[in-house]
Amino acid sequence: MAESKTDTKSSNQMWGGRFASGPDAIMEEINASIGFDKKLFAQDIRGSIAHATMLAHQGIISADDKDKIVHGLNTILSEIETGNFEFSRQLEDIHMNVEARLATLIGPAAGRLHTARSRNDQVALDFRLWVKEELEKTEKMLTGLIAAFLDRAEEHAESVMPGFTHLQTAQPVTFGHHCMAYVEMFGRDRSRVRHAIEHLDESPIGAAALAGTGYPIDRHMTAKALGFREPTRNSIDTVSDRDFAIEFLSIAAIAGMHLSRLAEEIVIWSTPQFGFVRLSDAFSTGSSIMPQKKNPDAAELVRAKTGRINGSLVALLTIMKGLPLAYSKDMQEDKEQVFDAAESLELAIAAMTGMVRDMTVNTARMKAAAGSGYSTATDLADWLVREAGLPFRDAHHVTGRAVGLAESKSCDLAELPLADLQAIHPDITDKVYDVLTVEASVASRKSFGGTAPSEVRKQIAFWRARN
Ligand code: ARG
Repeated sequence: MAESKTDTKSSNQMWGGRFASGPDAIMEEINASIGFDKKLFAQDIRGSIAHATMLAHQGIISADDKDKIVHGLNTILSEIETGNFEFSRQLEDIHMNVEARLATLIGPAAGRLHTARSRNDQVALDFRLWVKEELEKTEKMLTGLIAAFLDRAEEHAESVMPGFTHLQTAQPVTFGHHCMAYVEMFGRDRSRVRHAIEHLDESPIGAAALAGTGYPIDRHMTAKALGFREPTRNSIDTVSDRDFAIEFLSIAAIAGMHLSRLAEEIVIWSTPQFGFVRLSDAFSTGSSIMPQKKNPDAAELVRAKTGRINGSLVALLTIMKGLPLAYSKDMQEDKEQVFDAAESLELAIAAMTGMVRDMTVNTARMKAAAGSGYSTATDLADWLVREAGLPFRDAHHVTGRAVGLAESKSCDLAELPLADLQAIHPDITDKVYDVLTVEASVASRKSFGGTAPSEVRKQIAFWRARN
């Protein structure tokens, strides 16, 4: 949008009363936030309408002035929404851009809007409203991602895959169980989002510059009109607090870390070497030189976006850590961090939801891999404990010898002849072969939260009821 070119040397029309001349060009450039805080226009106008309505209700301004103000603000809202508003850098920020336009539209009544308020509580309000809406959006998006995983988990409650520790084959698990691990992770992210909404649900407006005001305002009225639970309780804290923004960034960083781990798994699973999943054309790209390639670019970018989000969190923590109470201009740098992280998080959730829904799962490949690497060795040890009465440590030792033998014969545990197994321990019978298959292995792990298909189905039902 266009920046207006008024004389940079005239003093500021909003606060320039005691200034003989305007700011240096560099001063104006470093000071202005309109380039990014114009994103807050709708929140700014909503806040001003609630404030003016309260001022009139309390008899602080006349009903006539209030009507003019509200009408003018609604005009400005539609001007901005339709791209017919000229933002000016001389007017620094969204608050003063809106107020200056209001003065042009309605004349002197506009000057009464800023009674009993300061830009300090105004920006705290606008930004809180914005973050609250973003958290609500994030909550919905996470619900969509969880739903995608629940569908895949249901479809693959029985599909066997290798479970890993140290990225080495450990024990067979089901793909459904693996999907449900992500449901737990994103479920925790969503409950953090809900808590953050609860934490920030207090209205800052009326804290004024930092000390409150002598006008007989009603902060409960504005809080209610703006959809907050109640007003904040300390005017100094209100204008110096950015915890709500930092909480948003922390939540985004943790969710981003989860998304990045998922992205990393998809990158690994979609390699020809693994071949566990095939990404849809919609979520992969080709190579300009190697025609055979299908690259998981979206997953890789999700991994990278997480780095950006972490950067924003560290930036805002660092911006805030040395500030004396109450407001300092440093705090103007809060918004770009949050806006950037919000955009990255939204994109990352949307991309991963699409990928999870669209990817083709190669169950045959997964099953073959699940049986390799002696993944049922623990099942053999458990059988020796259960059926032959061995202490687990001894059973572990016996199993280790069986694995060694199978390795030397380049075969699986289940392929060792009974005579070979009995030579290692005489109590082994042919019943042992029942537990050496990957299906038997997963079916046996029925402990609460375990990988048995019956357990996975219980957890799917639990989450379906909550999603
Ligand atoms: N643009 C400012 C910000 O984003 C608004 C508050 C300015 N307050 C002040 N006392 N200069 O923080």
